[in-house]
Amino acid sequence: MIVYLNGEFLDAHDAKISPFDRGFLFGDGVYEVCAVYQRHLYEWAAHCRRLFLSLQRVHLSLGYSEQQLADIAHQLLEKNGFENATVYLQISRGAVIGKRDHFYTPGLVPTIFAYANPWPEAMLEQRPTLKVITLADQRWQRGQIKSVNLLANTEARQQVHAQQLDEAILTRGDEVVEGTSSNVLLVKDGSVITPPEQPYMLTGITRQVLRRLANENGLPFIERRVSVNELNDADEIWITSTVRELRLVSELNGKAMPTNAPVFERMREWFNADKCRAIANDKQRKS
Ligand SMILES: Cc1ncc(COP(=O)(O)O)c(C=O)c1O
Repeated sequence: MIVYLNGEFLDAHDAKISPFDRGFLFGDGVYEVCAVYQRHLYEWAAHCRRLFLSLQRVHLSLGYSEQQLADIAHQLLEKNGFENATVYLQISRGAVIGKRDHFYTPGLVPTIFAYANPWPEAMLEQRPTLKVITLADQRWQRGQIKSVNLLANTEARQQVHAQQLDEAILTRGDEVVEGTSSNVLLVKDGSVITPPEQPYMLTGITRQVLRRLANENGLPFIERRVSVNELNDADEIWITSTVRELRLVSELNGKAMPTNAPVFERMREWFNADKCRAIANDKQRKS
């Protein structure tokens, strides 16, 4: 596999980073994951906007434009021969050799790493449902930043994995926040309801796409605080992320959820149509 590291395309085995990199020592870095369909970088502008916001929020400057990052992504796809994939992009603050100070000084050269992960066609088409549990959110208060520091997320996900489940929905007191690597939406009486954007939750790009599609199609989409009781009482629960796209929850805390999910089915059709439209527009632009 060919990866990108600090201006070079290398075999993954030859890509080396200093142990003094602050990403390694402190988790001092941010990342993005974008879906690629038939070489089209889906919602690239939105992913870059969020990346630049994450960078700004941790006072990191990258010096790459949206277009330069797209060029890196396209070259990764080209060099690896991938059509459908996810592109992972990480920027850490860089290294001060021989030093491990919590504070950082200006002028460090950021470490930029990117790779593409092929995405099997089968995964693009399937409709597997997810088994989820609720867990207390033990992460920091600034989940809006897509930080590489994901210990609380990985610990929660490990707990889920050990029980052969798919995702944990994180809660703060009585309030539903999001999944360990996903957003949560529910359907009640024909309306989609989802927690609003807030500092301790990642503003998901998939969630934003679904909001746009709901608005375009006249489906009520309500952003407001969601209680755990409402989650238990939902007609449908959806999990969304770039990698998982849009998935239906079939089991919540051991209790089966209805598998007849008409609103989910409609949204899934709109979502697939949106991807096809984006791919077609991109092909037209390039021809
Ligand atoms: C904590 C968290 N929330 C939500 C999401 C979903 O975001 P997106 O739809 O942009 O992938 C992710 C994705 O990785 C995530 O890690």
